[in-house]
Amino acid sequence: MRILVTGGAGYIGSHTCVELMQNKHEVIIVDNLVNSKESAVERIAAITGKAPLFYKADATDDQAMDLIFSTHKPDGVIHFAGLKAVGESVAVPLAYYRNNLLSTMVITDNCLRHGVNRFVFSSSATVYGDNQVPFLETMELLPRTNPYGETKAMCERILTDVAKVNPEFSVTLLRYFNPVGAHTSGLIGEAPQGIPNNLMPYITQVAKGIRKELRVFGNDYPTSDGTGVRDYIHVVDLAEGHALAIEKAEPGVEVYNLGTGKGTSVLELVKAFEEANDLQIPYSIVERRPGDIAECYADASKAKEKLGWVAKRGIVEMCQDAWRFEKSYEARA
Ligand code: NAD
Ligand code: UFG
Repeated sequence: MRILVTGGAGYIGSHTCVELMQNKHEVIIVDNLVNSKESAVERIAAITGKAPLFYKADATDDQAMDLIFSTHKPDGVIHFAGLKAVGESVAVPLAYYRNNLLSTMVITDNCLRHGVNRFVFSSSATVYGDNQVPFLETMELLPRTNPYGETKAMCERILTDVAKVNPEFSVTLLRYFNPVGAHTSGLIGEAPQGIPNNLMPYITQVAKGIRKELRVFGNDYPTSDGTGVRDYIHVVDLAEGHALAIEKAEPGVEVYNLGTGKGTSVLELVKAFEEANDLQIPYSIVERRPGDIAECYADASKAKEKLGWVAKRGIVEMCQDAWRFEKSYEARA
């Protein structure tokens, strides 16, 4: 298939492009590089031995998208492009609503105009809100605590409504849990700008000496050791999930959790990272981070049943691969 990947120069998008190209699909990347670098495209080419087509363009730009759709006539779209920093979304909500909603509407509109019937959307476990774990696709969604999460829930609704009146259109909503790790080549991975918001990149930066110590946000949650529990998933497993989702797409809407189904606490992840890489991660316990929930992990049985997808890589691989990428990533050090 010929697959248009918006946000394909980003963290999850770049790993998915590699997976798609290794599965013999043709890839066209659209990315405005607001949170990535063009070198990611070269690195995808280095891993796969073939350069994907790349357009530096904005997914909210209807004219530019129309030209790309009519030139390449893709068979499907995976829409990763979006802004994703939870804290920033509270500070500049309009930028988040504008970018995330408008890009989704423009890409969907182009799909309908150009007869592209496969649409895979990057959603997030954040849409569940503070629900009972494990999170199941059929659960009623609870209110989100930030505009970022709200944009994901709203995009899910928009796509579901569009699918209702377009019987040929296939929408797959993938709710990711906590993606971590990197490709084993160490060539692509997560390279946040500035101070990382997320736990794993913060740990790898402490390991590298860029940050002095990890701040653990609260140890008084109702969890085994009091720290927050999350379902960490290796980004290459996630990429494999996308390839299966677009290959197996059928008309109508499907929602899948992409997670391992296993919860890991902050302190467990720190210990696993130390053991996997033979390193020490200094940390201190500080107050809870506003908006955080105690536990978040998936019931991942639907993806196994219907897509034949399971997460194969464990915590040790996630920690080793994240560290390999961090060590080799020079631009920031
Ligand atoms: P990322 O920032 O690395 O990748 C997103 C890419 O989209 C970037 O390369 C950025 O430059 C691009 N982009 C943003 N707005 C654009 C626009 N208007 N036009 C063109 N390109 C644009 O983030 P990621 O972690 O790879 O996340 C990919 C998707 O998955 C996002 O939609 C994100 O919200 C979602 N998601 C991420 C996580 C996570 O923890 N990483 C969890 C759940 C969902
Ligand atoms: N944490 C720390 N110190 C840090 C960073 C994080 O203790 O410096 C803790 C958090 O309190 C939480 C856990 O580590 O308990 C994981 O935090 P992350 O920020 O890595 O991830 P979140 O679960 O908060 O959020 C992530 C993405 C969201 C997405 C959500 C889906 O950032 O975009 O997963 O589950 F919506």
